[in-house]
Amino acid sequence: MKGVLLSGGTGSRLRPITHTGPKQLVPVANKPVLEYAVEDLKEAGITEIGVVLGNKGREEIQELLGDGSDYGVDITYIIQGNPLGLAHAAACARDFVGDDDFVMFLGDNILKQGITDLVESFERGNYGASIALQQVDNPQQFGIADIDEDGTVTELVEKPDHPPSDLALIGIYVFSNTVFDAIERIEPSWRGELEITDAIQTLLDDGHEIDSQVIEGWWKDTGMPEDILEANRLVLEGRPGESSGTIEDGASIEGHIDLAGSATIESGAVVRGPVSIGQETTIRDGTYVGPYTSIGPNTTVEGVHIENSVVIGDSEIHSNGKIVDSLLGRGATIGSADEMLPEGRRLVVGENSNLKL
Ligand code: G1P
Repeated sequence: MKGVLLSGGTGSRLRPITHTGPKQLVPVANKPVLEYAVEDLKEAGITEIGVVLGNKGREEIQELLGDGSDYGVDITYIIQGNPLGLAHAAACARDFVGDDDFVMFLGDNILKQGITDLVESFERGNYGASIALQQVDNPQQFGIADIDEDGTVTELVEKPDHPPSDLALIGIYVFSNTVFDAIERIEPSWRGELEITDAIQTLLDDGHEIDSQVIEGWWKDTGMPEDILEANRLVLEGRPGESSGTIEDGASIEGHIDLAGSATIESGAVVRGPVSIGQETTIRDGTYVGPYTSIGPNTTVEGVHIENSVVIGDSEIHSNGKIVDSLLGRGATIGSADEMLPEGRRLVVGENSNLKL
């Protein structure tokens, strides 16, 4: 079994953060979303991984993952180029996959329970595909599957006006090699893309059995800033917190804090976990860092009250303002305006922006 990790797409819903980098590298709890997918594949015993690259951020992704040896896997890069749909991305990986079965994993998806159960379920039967599903409130915005009592899929449809169920395809699929033949026979959808959902429906029409698993733990498609914040909250919540940095006497600490080795919480700062703080970052006197906040590397935070936010890193924040529910791009700087603002500010700030609060 091989892995095909999709890392293309434009990231349009995460602008301005994705003007300068690929969405799969946005960090959640100080780790790029894409790394969670590599770890999930490895955990399921899949070590031959093809990473499908779009037009954006190819170098950054290759720089992060390298040849995979840091993660104990073997990575091959595959160029998709223009984003013509998930089924097109899968087809680009055909030579890499060869005659094997494979897991296709959307690189901007993150899920609590990993993919081992899904892979094992596929291997127990003789399926055309196994798909992971989860109930959603807005089925019109996803690929949707209808299933019978034993989880066998009876119908699939991409972003339906009249959904046959509320079970969304969550972007993790196990395929038998026959899917490549199905992909060759589908037509582009209304959005001009070759939809993987249509390819799975074709497998069904051809008489292949499609297996499904409804995922119980949380899952997030990190397509939008609020999804990043929620994924960050969910990951931090489930984490014990590992503190190898410096906590000065007189700093006030509560709950789980993930503090990188070269990070410092200075005397007079208040940090209430769960919180993650990256390498070379300093939390200064008079700062409050509240629950569900991740502050990336090489950052100084002074005076501000910040909570439920992600600061990607390389930032300077010197302000007595209040920042809540915010996503700050790499290199963003926040200063103080003359008057202190009592209300919390919700921000999505692009790379290298400079704001005064
Ligand atoms: C894609 C798939 C859709 C699936 C979703 C999961 O949607 O087309 O079937 O439910 O990923 O995140 P997109 O993100 O392209 O809108």
